[in-house]
Order: sequence, then C-alpha cells, then structure tokens
Amino acid sequence: MNNIITLQKVNKTFRKREKEFPVLKSIDLHVNQGDFVMIMGKSGSGKTTLLNTMGLLTSFDSGMYILDDKEVTHLNENEKSNIRNCSIGFIFQQFHLIDSLTIGQNVELPLLYKGKVPYRERSTKVEKYLDMVGLLNKKNQKPSELSGGQQQRIAIARALINDPPLILADEPTGSLDSNTGEEIMGILKKLNRNNKTIVMVTHDEDLVRYANKVIYIQDGLIQR
Ligand SMILES: Nc1ncnc2c1ncn2[C@@H]1O[C@H](COP(=O)(O)OP(=O)(O)OP(=O)(O)O)[C@@H](O)[C@H]1O
Ligand SMILES: [Mg+2]
Repeated sequence: MNNIITLQKVNKTFRKREKEFPVLKSIDLHVNQGDFVMIMGKSGSGKTTLLNTMGLLTSFDSGMYILDDKEVTHLNENEKSNIRNCSIGFIFQQFHLIDSLTIGQNVELPLLYKGKVPYRERSTKVEKYLDMVGLLNKKNQKPSELSGGQQQRIAIARALINDPPLILADEPTGSLDSNTGEEIMGILKKLNRNNKTIVMVTHDEDLVRYANKVIYIQDGLIQR
C-alpha cells in the first residue's frame, strides 16, 4: 500500500518563560493512501498539534516528516504553503469561513491562492463542488445566513476545490448536533471511498466506526 504520511520520532516542545512543555513526544506514525484515520485523546493531549504538524501549519523541533514520498521536514514557508494549498484540504471545528465574502467566493479562495486559474474554470469548479455538497443554491449568500451543518459543507467544498489527495479535519463535527454531525461524516465517508485519504481528530467515540485506523494520544505520546 502506498504511504502518504510518515512521521518518524517527531518531537515538539512549547516554551514559555524558560519553562518547557513537551507536546509531541517521539511520534511515529504512518498513514496509507485511502486510510480513514481517527486521532483521539483527552483535551490538551496534543491532537491539534499533531494534525497541524501533518498539515505543515506548525513546525517541530526534531524528527522527520515524509509527505507523498517527499521529505518536507526542512521546507521554507513558501514551499510549505504551496503544498498546503495544492495537496491538503483543511476542515476545522469552527468552519473558518469569511463572512464578508459570498459562499461562492469562499469556496473559490484556494483557486485564487493557487493563481493562474482562468475565471471560467474557477466558476465551473465552484459550482461543481457546491453541487457536490448539495448547496449550489446558496452560492450568492453569506456564510452567516447558513446553519452550522451547511457552513461545514461549504468548508468541505472549499477543502476539495484543488482536489487534494489528503484531507485533515480537526473535530469537524464538534460544533454540530449529532444528526448534522452524521451528515458530515457521511460526506467524509463518501470522499474516502472515492480515494481521499482522511485524518480526523475527534472526541466522539461513536465516530470510530468510520475509521479503518484509530490513534490514541495521551500527553503527547501515541498509545500502542
Ligand atoms: N501555541 C502554543 N503555545 C504554547 N502551548 C501550546 C500552544 N498550542 C498548544 N499548546 C499546548 O499544547 C498542548 C496540546 O495542545 P493541543 O491543542 O494539541 O491539544 P488537543 O489535544 O487538540 O486539545 P483539545 O481536545 O482541547 O482541542 C496543550 O497543553 C496546550 O496548552
Ligand atoms: Mg484540539
């Protein structure tokens, strides 16, 4: 099976007023293409830090990270942001939509960051992905006019628009009631069946059934 993520002996420590707070302790982790991985653990155990490390959103102190056969441990900010934009789709608990933009403009953003995508192609893609999450009719509305579940579906469309092989989701159902959460999980499951690799953080033991691999983390250590 093809490996998409390999972390080897990854350590990360936060420092505050000369005190050290180790948050990731010698993390070894493999994610294969097509996996649906859940990361679970108590509040403060390091789940978000681990996910943000995989997403090249935060740096680490030592260890090695191979993403899609490429060593990404020592890339500069520019190289990291290119990979983030083209190869990774991010979904967050609080959706992180921009309320001064329309739904369509929110979904379009990663295409604008990528640059050089002609208007017509952008507009076709925006409609394709809005349609995929069942919200094409909301294209010209603002995020605040939608329900939480609808906003998360918009965030999923935005995460998918550059067709990244990897989706990282940090408690994507954490702000939703359980029925709406199941709807979002249904969409993620379908994406996973269509070959997207998904790594998701959750508190919710009920959702473990969606995963083919579960990682428990405690005080920055993966439990075996
Ligand atoms: N920027 C930061 N500076 C200092 N300490 C931080 C920073 N970010 C996180 N931490 C600390 O690192 C530890 C792990 O945080 P992290 O956000 O990864 O936990 P988590 O497992 O995602 O928790 P939750 O379930 O509450 O979201 C916590 O003790 C937190 O206080
Ligand atoms: Mg967290």
